[in-house]
Amino acid sequence: MNDLADLVRRWDDQQAAYVAGREQRFTAMLDVLELTVGADRTIVDLGCGPGSLSRRILDRFPGARVVAIDYDPVLLTLARETLGGRATVLDADLTDPGWASFDGEVAAMVSTTALHWLRPDQLIRLYTQVHERLSPGGVLLDGDHFRFDARDAALRRIAADHDDTTQRAAFAAGAEDWTAWWTAASTHPTLAPHVPARERRYAQRVSAPETTVEFRLAALRQSGFAAAGPVWQFLDDYVVWAQKQGETGP
Ligand SMILES: C[S@@+](CC[C@H](N)C(=O)[O-])C[C@H]1O[C@@H](n2cnc3c(N)ncnc32)[C@H](O)[C@@H]1O
Repeated sequence: MNDLADLVRRWDDQQAAYVAGREQRFTAMLDVLELTVGADRTIVDLGCGPGSLSRRILDRFPGARVVAIDYDPVLLTLARETLGGRATVLDADLTDPGWASFDGEVAAMVSTTALHWLRPDQLIRLYTQVHERLSPGGVLLDGDHFRFDARDAALRRIAADHDDTTQRAAFAAGAEDWTAWWTAASTHPTLAPHVPARERRYAQRVSAPETTVEFRLAALRQSGFAAAGPVWQFLDDYVVWAQKQGETGP
């Protein structure tokens, strides 16, 4: 394994420390893709990072075409270098409406642990653009933490305790935390030249307010989707699915 592929493996271990059911979440998304739009279509990965989900899509559906989008120059480089020619990797800011200007029909868009960075107004605009860009019958799958609010205080506490337990176990087993992974990535000779651009782009970034799964489902329906619902859940970690009106193509 080369050192960039090893960094992606370490990214996966690091992310799994924060997302307890990450692999089950990926598998649920791939299963639903297969059951809805089929295997060999064009699928867009929004906030792809180093390409974790894109890679799993291509491994499971070798005939699929993947467009992987992110705004982090370091993670985009890692995705390009390790996905090779298997995916089209695009540099775009999902809060800028221009992100959707790539060509071609799209059967599905997917995202994991990424869209929580968008404010609620930005999220609704993104969902609306996703709806516009999908072919009839196309689907969106968004996997992320949708936090319980004060109405579900007990569940919120259980989910937070579970997060703590998962992180402690993962770090004890040797996974890096976010800071350690970024320290390693930032000093890699292929990635280091992209660190200043990353810092510039994300300098003004502030965390968006947390949103519940109910908000996500209402936002999807408000954005034009004919159907929407959760297809997978573990505590506050969900995959929500939404489908555009119409028949999916071949
Ligand atoms: C925690 S990482 C998850 C990456 C990958 N989806 C995964 O599951 O491993 C969040 C990703 O969202 C991307 N992201 C956040 N805000 C973005 C934006 N406005 N436009 C494009 N990508 C964004 C970040 O650059 C980062 O790659």
